[in-house]
This record gives sequence, C-alpha cells and structure tokens, in this order.
Amino acid sequence: MARTLITSAIPYINGIKHLGNLIGSQLPADLHARYLRARGQEVLFLCATDEHGTPAELAAAKAGKPVAEYCAEMWAIQADLAKGFRLSFDHFGRSSSPQNHKLTQHFAGRLADAGLIEEVSEKQVYSNTDGRFLPDRYIEGTCPNCGYEHARGDQCENCTIQLTPTQLINPRSTISGSTDLEVRETKHLHLRQSQLRDQLSAWIESKTDWPILTTSIAKKWLNDGDGLQDRGITRDLDWGVPVKRGDQPWPGMEDKVFYVWFDAPIEYIACGAEWVEAGKGTDWERWWRTDKGAGDVRYVQFMGKDNVPFHTLSFPATILGSGEPWKLVDYIKSFNYLNYDGGQFSTSQGRGVFMDQALEILPSDYWRWWLLSHAPETSDAEFTWEAFQQDVNKDLADVLGNFVSRITKFCRSKFGEAVPDGGTYGPQEKALIADLQTRLERYQAHMDAIEIRKAAAELRAIWTLGNEYLQSAAPWTAFKTDPDRAAAITRLALNLIPFYATLSAPFIPDAATQMHDAMGAEPGWPEHADAALTALPAGHAFTVPDVLFSKISDEDREGWQARFAGQRV
Ligand code: 2FM
Ligand code: ZN
Repeated sequence: MARTLITSAIPYINGIKHLGNLIGSQLPADLHARYLRARGQEVLFLCATDEHGTPAELAAAKAGKPVAEYCAEMWAIQADLAKGFRLSFDHFGRSSSPQNHKLTQHFAGRLADAGLIEEVSEKQVYSNTDGRFLPDRYIEGTCPNCGYEHARGDQCENCTIQLTPTQLINPRSTISGSTDLEVRETKHLHLRQSQLRDQLSAWIESKTDWPILTTSIAKKWLNDGDGLQDRGITRDLDWGVPVKRGDQPWPGMEDKVFYVWFDAPIEYIACGAEWVEAGKGTDWERWWRTDKGAGDVRYVQFMGKDNVPFHTLSFPATILGSGEPWKLVDYIKSFNYLNYDGGQFSTSQGRGVFMDQALEILPSDYWRWWLLSHAPETSDAEFTWEAFQQDVNKDLADVLGNFVSRITKFCRSKFGEAVPDGGTYGPQEKALIADLQTRLERYQAHMDAIEIRKAAAELRAIWTLGNEYLQSAAPWTAFKTDPDRAAAITRLALNLIPFYATLSAPFIPDAATQMHDAMGAEPGWPEHADAALTALPAGHAFTVPDVLFSKISDEDREGWQARFAGQRV
C-alpha cells in the first residue's frame, strides 16, 4: 500500500492564527491527507506548535505567565481550534517536547562529529535600553537587498532573503523601539551549511516536479550565495532546547539554547516519536528512517513561501550533514499570501479574521471551502467579505445544498423516504455519467498533483452537473405523465448524493458526513462514475437532511465587515 508522510509548517505558539496562516499550510495539508486516506493510502499527518524563541518569551511576559505555562495553554487552544477546523492530524505535537530536545541535541552532536559545526566568537546586538541581547527577529531595519524598511534581523519578509541583524541598515529594537544598540562579543555555534552546497544543489536540481514557487525561491538562495552562508544555531536565551552535544554537555555553551529555526523542523521528526509516546502509533522510524522501512514513503511538506528557504536549504543541511539515513522531503507545496480586504492579515496588528472568530460566526466547512477554492497557489489572493458571501451562497447553498435538498424532498413527497423503483436509465443518464467520469478523472488528477484551485473548480463543476441534470430531466414534470421515468431520474439523483459526499469530503468533511448519514451510505471512493448509478438500490431508505448550508445575508455580511474592520482587541 502506498504511504505518504505529510507535515504542515508548525505554527508559532504566540497567539491564535489567522485565516491567512491557516490556508498557508495546515488546511491544504489536511486536504491532501484526507484525499489520500480516502483513496486508500496509509497516511501519517503531523503538525505541532513552534514554541521556542523570543516571540514565545515575550508573549508569555505580556500575558504575565511563566513561559512553559503560557505555551501549554496556547498549545491546548491551538489544538482545539485545529479540531474545530477538522484538521485531521494524526498527532499535534509540541516543539518543546522531551523528544524534540533529545533529537535536536542528537543532530547537533552528529553535525559536530562531522566537522560541520564551528564555535565562533560573534558580535551580537545588545540593547542597552532592554538590558538584553536582541534576538534577530527583534531587530528591525532596512533590507540591504531590496530596501524594505521593516525587514527583520533574521529574514526580509518582502524579498525572503535570510539575514543577520548586522546586515540591516538603521537597526532598532522592536521591543522598545530603541536605537541605543551596541554590538557585544559572545560565543556561538555556527552550522557550516556552505560545506554542503554541492550536495544541496544536486538534491534541489533533481526535484524537477516541484512547484515553481518552491524551486524559484530555493534556487535563488542557493545560487546567489547568501542563502548558504554559515549560520548561527545558538542563542542567548533561557527558553529553548539547551545546547548539548548529543547527551554530553557542550563546554562554554551552558547558558545557551538552540536557535528556534534549528529545532523547529526537527520537531517534524520528533512529532512522530510523540505520536508513538501518546499511544497512537507503534513505529515512527518506519516513516522517518530509510534504513528502517521509510524507503517507500513519499514525504510531502506544506508551507508559506517565507518558510521555503528553511525547508530547502537549512533543514536539509541538518539532515544531510548528520550522515544518517533520515527521510528527506520528496515534494514541497508552498503558498503565496492571502491578503485581507485591501491589506495584509497581521497577527501583530490584529488585522483580519482569526481562527477562533471565524468559528464563532460560521461552521468550518464554509471557511474550508472558500479558503481552499481560493488557495494562493500561483499568486497572492485576497479575502473580501463580498467574495466570501457570493461564493459560499452560490457554490455551497445554491448548487450543492440545493441539489441535495431538492431531490430528497421531491422523493419524500412523491415516493416516500426510500429510493424509488421503476423505469430505466436512458441516454440522458448515460451522457451524465460520461461527463461525471471525465470530470472525476480530472478531479483526481488535480488532487494527486495538489493543484487545489483546479481541483475545487472541478468539484464545483461536478456538483453543477447534478443540478443541470435535475433541471433538464425535470422529474416533477415527468411524474405527471410517466411516474416510472420520474422514479428513474430520482433514483439516479439520489445516488449522486453519496458520490458527491465522498468526493467533497476532503474539502467539506462535515457536510459530507451529513450527506452520507442522511443517505445511509458508507464513504468509499468510486472506481468509476458508474458507481453513482447503483450504489443505493431501489428500496434503500434515506432521510431528508437538515439544510446543509444557509445563505449569508447582506445583513450578516455587513455586520461582519464592520466587526472585523478594526484591530482585534
Ligand atoms: O513561519 C512559521 O510559522 C514557523 N513557525 C514555521 C516553522 S516550520 C518548521 F520548520 F518547523
Ligand atoms: Zn528584502
């Protein structure tokens, strides 16, 4: 049986994520996991919270809590929201887990043994006003590469270049705004990524099927030199994975922790060990070690474009440098940004709709459908309330919801709550099945290729075929003169419901369950659209489901527009 390992970029712990974050990795990863499971594959789908680094420390301080306590609480909140959005992780771990501590220290030890770690006496930015060394991302300034004025000390959001703080022009502390910064000496560990240039380059060159967004970013940083500069992998902080060489102390490094971007991707692996520890699995190495059975696993990662350099260069450098047979990623699906109503979603500014707020106003399927069908794959996309209202009302309420309700209610009133007998399928039905088959094949091809918008468009077209069929076959008219003909039409249309439910489940799992339940049908991927003719035999009982999707009124839309216009408080 084919096996796929799926990871979503692990969200930072400091706060509830917005819908832009959700569609940038977790939600598309869930779509893929659900689809492959439905096709009968064995899937391991992992995600976790990214808990280290200064963002966590500062957020905890702001909340007036010890950082460990803050992280535990935020993890529970994020895990709960993930459930609310029906994200079907096999495990939702924590980068602060003992498993990740151990594995991160293990990798550092292996890299040191391989001569890939250097101890460097480094000049680091110290803020006199804040009384501390400033971590890279808490220094802001002008990007030396593109001139963007709000580049962070670790990376420029605008051009994605990885930076070190001393490269910034006009640096300032983002904690206090102070420019009273000085550079002080401190010793740190550097990963000699540049030693791995040839290996990394050959590996990236071999990935000819990756999305252009992924390879263009990877190649840019590989070839222009900056991306593979040796990088500091330790920090002067209290919270994080203590610097050790395997299980041995690392002299001179006693008060330091590993850099959050060193340990975060290692959590993908550690999360597998957490999954076993939690009693949900028995063998994580079977997914992660090519010497222990993972040779036939396909590993797919999902992430926003700003994460691509870390996953195409830094993390593979850790894996390749270890000299151990860890599974390398096979396919990286990356995303552009989703913008919010003429601007950007922003966590720091509380701008946009956040996951908890979204679920307060509508069930998750509405959001899942809209976000996935507008996934920012080839360019940035934009969320507007008008578009959201229009698409949800049309696709979900008018097309899919209306089809299901119309045919089940018609059947109940004319034939009762069981699939009617009588009549035969004629040319109209054969033509419909042929169209469905063509579109089913296209849908599968897009889902296999993780072309999400195209898959959504195909699914929408499949729903529309049902509506068009009902409209032209018009069983309500046929019933007056030829009840047998009306029975055949109704039988086919009822059979389309479980067919639609199965195909739609990766996008809208709750509605799919409702449809399957109402029809008393089990999910099962159709081999062929013919299945839609016969899955439910004459006499099979069903119930009319509750309204699947309510329309969004202008009043609702205006209210939400006003509520989410300002900053989150
Ligand atoms: O950008 C982010 O949200 C990061 N927390 C993603 C980390 S992904 C990984 F490498 F673990
Ligand atoms: Zn830049």
